[in-house]
Amino acid sequence: MKKKIIIGLSIFCLIFIVGGSYIIISIETATTKLDDLITLHQVSILREHLLLQIKKVQSDIHLKNTRYARNINTIVSNVRAMEKMSGTCLDCHHSRDMQYKLNDLKKEVREYQGNISRLFTMRTNSKRLLEDEDRAFQKGEKLIETVHAMINMASMKLEHKTRTSLREIDETKEVLYYLVIIVPFLAGVLGYIFIGGFTGPVKKLLNATRKLKSGDMDFRIEGLESEFGEVAESFNEMSCALKENMHMIRENERRYRTLFESAGDAIFMVDSEGDNMGVIVSANKAAADMHGYTVEELEGLSLFNDIDSSEDAVLAPERVSEMLNGEWIHTEINHRKKDGTVFPVEASAGIFEFMGSKYILAIDRDITDRKKAEGALLRSHVMFTTVLDSIDAIIYVSDMETYEVLYLNRYARKLFGDIEGKVCWRNIQSGLDGPCDFCGNDKLITPEGDPSGVIHKEVFSTFNGKWYDVYNRAIEWVDGRIVRFEIASDITERVKMDKALKRAEQMKLVGEWAAGLAHEIKNALAGIKISIEVMAEEPALDEEDRDSVVKAVDEIKRIELLLKRMLNFAKPPELQLFVTNVNELLDNALNYSIRPASASEINAPEVSVVKDYDIHLPVTMADRLQLRQVFMNIIMNANEAMQNNGTLMLKTSYDAVTNNIFVEISDDGEGLEKEIIDKIFNPFFTTKSKGSGLGLAISKRIVELHGGDIYVENKSGGGVLFTIRIPMRGAAEEQKK
Ligand SMILES: Nc1ncnc2c1ncn2[C@@H]1O[C@H](COP(=O)(O)OP(=O)(O)OP(=O)(O)O)[C@@H](O)[C@H]1O
Ligand SMILES: [Mg+2]
Repeated sequence: MKKKIIIGLSIFCLIFIVGGSYIIISIETATTKLDDLITLHQVSILREHLLLQIKKVQSDIHLKNTRYARNINTIVSNVRAMEKMSGTCLDCHHSRDMQYKLNDLKKEVREYQGNISRLFTMRTNSKRLLEDEDRAFQKGEKLIETVHAMINMASMKLEHKTRTSLREIDETKEVLYYLVIIVPFLAGVLGYIFIGGFTGPVKKLLNATRKLKSGDMDFRIEGLESEFGEVAESFNEMSCALKENMHMIRENERRYRTLFESAGDAIFMVDSEGDNMGVIVSANKAAADMHGYTVEELEGLSLFNDIDSSEDAVLAPERVSEMLNGEWIHTEINHRKKDGTVFPVEASAGIFEFMGSKYILAIDRDITDRKKAEGALLRSHVMFTTVLDSIDAIIYVSDMETYEVLYLNRYARKLFGDIEGKVCWRNIQSGLDGPCDFCGNDKLITPEGDPSGVIHKEVFSTFNGKWYDVYNRAIEWVDGRIVRFEIASDITERVKMDKALKRAEQMKLVGEWAAGLAHEIKNALAGIKISIEVMAEEPALDEEDRDSVVKAVDEIKRIELLLKRMLNFAKPPELQLFVTNVNELLDNALNYSIRPASASEINAPEVSVVKDYDIHLPVTMADRLQLRQVFMNIIMNANEAMQNNGTLMLKTSYDAVTNNIFVEISDDGEGLEKEIIDKIFNPFFTTKSKGSGLGLAISKRIVELHGGDIYVENKSGGGVLFTIRIPMRGAAEEQKK
């Protein structure tokens, strides 16, 4: 097609160039010829003038000596004018022949001029004058003849040339007429042929687009070539794609229509602008059923005035402006049915654009049943939490793998804080670097991961120093996973009471027994002691016997001391409370318990003491003498266990949360065997040959009288650690008591 256009345009250009050139050359030639003709005519006129001038001079000769003779000046000017005219054409371009003729003419004119001048100037005899006059006249006549001949010849030539030129001009005119008629016709024909080459395919394409417009998607363009062929191919492909797209659009439209019609939620398309704001443009069947209208009745109603409850209708403009700002709103509002019943809906609405206008798409779900269910759920939740929160026991649920706390009742929250989402063992017990020993998550589930029963134990919490009766069981949590449920009731008082009761009973028995025994022994011993003392003063007694008697008295004194301790244990003295600095008291006990090696005992074994005191330890009200006795008993035991050779560690600390002072005394001796660790606080339990087994029993009693506890444990590297917990007592508090 491009080639055709180029060829066509080239032909057009060629025609115009050739035609134009011909016209220009023809005009040029004709003009030149006309110019020549004009020049020739001018020459002819000049000759005529010369002839006339010669005739004028001839007449001057005729009129000479008559009363009509002209003035001599006029005659001179006529002669001069004639001479001037004869030389006019000499400078022009003439053929050589003509040039000769003109020169001859000039020469003859000059001779004639000479004759004339002699005639009018010479004063001679009349005969001679007549001869000159005759000669001049004859010359003039000859000149007239010559000029006449030249004029005639020129006229003939001019006539011939003029005729030839006019004929040629006529021919050129004729050719130009033909050109003027033929070129537009030719251009028209060629143009028609070329335009026909364009309009045919364009018509076909136009026709095809009309067909497409009328919905005939199967129409295809055929028989077009070159670029139009490519356009036709593209058109055919476009029709194919259009057909497929139309099919898809129809399918989608059908699908969305079905979706719209069969949706369970009410769907409204509502005007969002102008006076019609809120008017329902379209609604689905669910919307009609939900509100007790037909679809036709709904269309045209106002969503805000006829469907929203009067309270929610007031806020409708606000909601619309939010939507127009690009927000998609989700809210719960009340709708009104045709019969006036108000019911709750969950509404989602936003703006969408359709055919250049903005509409509200509102999707409403009837949540009457859900609201009822939610109400019931809320009631049961409130019931559940009220019951659980009113139980004075720790109730909590934790994940069995991550130990994350999932639920806490109010009692547990008060105790541990809001630790939901946190790891239980980090927040429920203190100082742990892993799950609690008693946790036993693995025992709560079978290897298959099913709940396997209840673990019930009494647990002492290092978090707050209390005893708990703990029930653990695995349960299925709300999300389906198996979790640990724990209920732990505070039994500290009960445990204390149990222990106190047990010990009281024990003490009562021991006391009664010891008191009786002591009474019997004391009486017997008193008699024995007096007798032996008397015996010791006997002068006849030799030295060896006297020593034996003195030893017997010493043994009796030791037994008396033992009896005193027994009675002390059985009936401990009342506490005498004073402001006590536990660090100082511990130092005091240490001085009384461990004797530093004297200078003489250079290589004697010696215990090294490491102190780690809390220098900010608060003072507390305590019975200094009795508490010092406790520390001394434990330090002496440690010293004996290390056989005076080892490291004794003393540590004090204060826990502000639980308000307890902790004293730790540890040694690196042989430690306690498993079998005896639970017995060492029992009265009279001893592993020593000369021990009474009352040291720790009395110590525990004294600490308990202060409201505290003593725990014992073997250290991992060997040795024993005693931990004494003494509750902090302020002076004011004690005064109140
Ligand atoms: N630090 C210790 N290391 C190893 N065993 C200890 C330690 N302290 C106490 N015991 C064990 O506990 C027992 C009871 O101690 P307790 O102080 O009550 O009586 P005792 O020391 O045997 O006699 P007493 O204190 O009346 O002289 C000891 O006999 C000993 O076996
Ligand atoms: Mg002891």
